[in-house]
Amino acid sequence: MSLLPTTSIARIADYDGQAVTLAGWVYNKTEKGRLIFILLRDGSGTIQCVIFKKNVAEETFAAARELTQESSCRITGMVRADERAASGYELDVQEIEVVHLTHDYPIAPKEHGIEFLMEHRHLWVRSSRQHALLRIRAEVMAAAQEWLNSQGFVRFDTPILTGTAAEGTSDLFATPYFDLGNAYLAQTGQLYVEAGMMAFGKVYTFGPTFRAEKSKTRRHLTEFWMLEPEVAFATHEDNLVLQEQMLSAIVQRVLSTCVRELEVLERDTTALQRVQPPFPRITYDAALDLIREHHTEVEGCRVLEWGEDFGAPHETLIATKFDKPVFVERFPTSLKAFYMQPDPARPEVVLCADLIAPEGYGELIGGSQRIHDATLLEQRIRDFGLNVEDYQWYLDLRRYGSVPHSGFGIGLERTVAWICNTHHIRETIPFPRMLYRLYP
Ligand code: 4AD
Ligand code: MG
Repeated sequence: MSLLPTTSIARIADYDGQAVTLAGWVYNKTEKGRLIFILLRDGSGTIQCVIFKKNVAEETFAAARELTQESSCRITGMVRADERAASGYELDVQEIEVVHLTHDYPIAPKEHGIEFLMEHRHLWVRSSRQHALLRIRAEVMAAAQEWLNSQGFVRFDTPILTGTAAEGTSDLFATPYFDLGNAYLAQTGQLYVEAGMMAFGKVYTFGPTFRAEKSKTRRHLTEFWMLEPEVAFATHEDNLVLQEQMLSAIVQRVLSTCVRELEVLERDTTALQRVQPPFPRITYDAALDLIREHHTEVEGCRVLEWGEDFGAPHETLIATKFDKPVFVERFPTSLKAFYMQPDPARPEVVLCADLIAPEGYGELIGGSQRIHDATLLEQRIRDFGLNVEDYQWYLDLRRYGSVPHSGFGIGLERTVAWICNTHHIRETIPFPRMLYRLYP
C-alpha cells in the first residue's frame, strides 16, 4: 500500500467537491471548542483543514487535538471552495492519520534572531518566507536554462576540481589531490566552457563556484552558483544584448509563475515589470563622472581616481540613477581578468561590462569579449604572473580555429536576492557557506 497523497495542495482546485487524501506537516493549529483548524502544508502550498467534532469519529478528533506544530500526518476530507481561504479552498476533514508527532519544534511562530535561525537552517527552510525564496530560486534556475535551451544553447558541464586559477589567485580554495599536488575549487567554469563553445557554438555551464573571499558582506558567499553562457563569433555588443534578453525573460517568467511567493515576500513588483530590454549603458569613465557629481548622496561613497575599482557604495549610487539594471562597460584593463579583449580603439580599457542591479544589490553579471589571439593571450597570462604551461590547453583554443567570442557569468544568489528584495544573499541558497559558517 502506498502512503502517497491523492493530490497536492497546489492542485486542489481540480478536486472541488471531491474527497482527497493530503499528506504533509502541521504549520499551525487553533482550537475553538468543538472545532479544530489545522493549517496543513505539503510543500506545494497550505490549506486550512477543518475538523468539526460532530462530523468525525472520536479517534479522529482526539488525533487532531494531539497534533503539534510540524507533526507529519495524512488527512482525508472533502474539498470545499471558500472565498475567504488564502488558497480558495478548505478541507472538511473526515479522517486523520498521524505519521509522526513532533515535540518542542525549535522554530516557534514568533521572532527569532538571525543567528538562531542560521543554526537551524535545516528546519528554517520550512518557514513560509524561506520557502518562497527557495521556490523562486528554483524557478530562476529553470527559467534561465529553459530560455537558453530555447535559443539553441547546449549545457556543457565544467569541472569543480581544477588545476589552475581562472579569476585571480588570491581567493582560491585548495585541496590536496593525490600525487598531483593541489587541486583548486573552481572560481568559474569559464575557461572550460570556452572549449565547449568551440565544439557547440552556444553553450552554458551552471554550477557551484567557490571564492575564498574574506568578505563579510550581504552580497558575498564562499560557495555560490553561477550560470555562464559563452557564444562563438559574439562581440561585446552581442554579449550585452544576450544578457538583457536573458535576464528580462527570467524576471518576466518569475512575475507570471511566482505570484504567491512574491506576495509572501511582499515584493513591490512594479520595479520588476520594467525589466525589459534594452538596459541603459554607461562607460566606466562616465560612471566616474557620475560618482564625482553625486558621491555625497550615498554614505561611504568617495570620489574615485581613474583605475580604481568600485566599492559597494559606488554600485549603489550608480543604481539609483537608473530604473532598470545598468551596464557599466569598458573598465581599465588593470582591474579585470587576464582573458578580456582590449578595446582596439583604446587598449587601456577592455571590452567588458558589469551589470549593476537596481535597489543596491550590486553586480549581478560580469562578462566580456575574450582575447582570441594566442600571442596576446599568452602575453597576458605571463603579465598576470601565471604559469603558461598550465594554460596550454586554453591557448590551444586560440591555435585551432580561433574566433572572436564572448560570454558572461550571472550570480544566482544575487539575482534571486534582487528579484525577491531580500536583504542578505544567505537566505537565497539552502545552505549558505560564508566566512564564519559551515554548519549545518
Ligand atoms: O565577475 P565574476 O567574478 O566573473 C567571472 O567569474 C567570469 N569568469 C564570468 C564569465 O565571464 N563567465 O563573477 C560573476 C558573477 C558576479 O557578477 C556575481 O553575481 C557573482 O558571480 N559572484 C558572487 N556571488 C556571490 N558571492 C560571491 N563571492 C561572488 N563572486 C561573484
Ligand atoms: Mg565581476
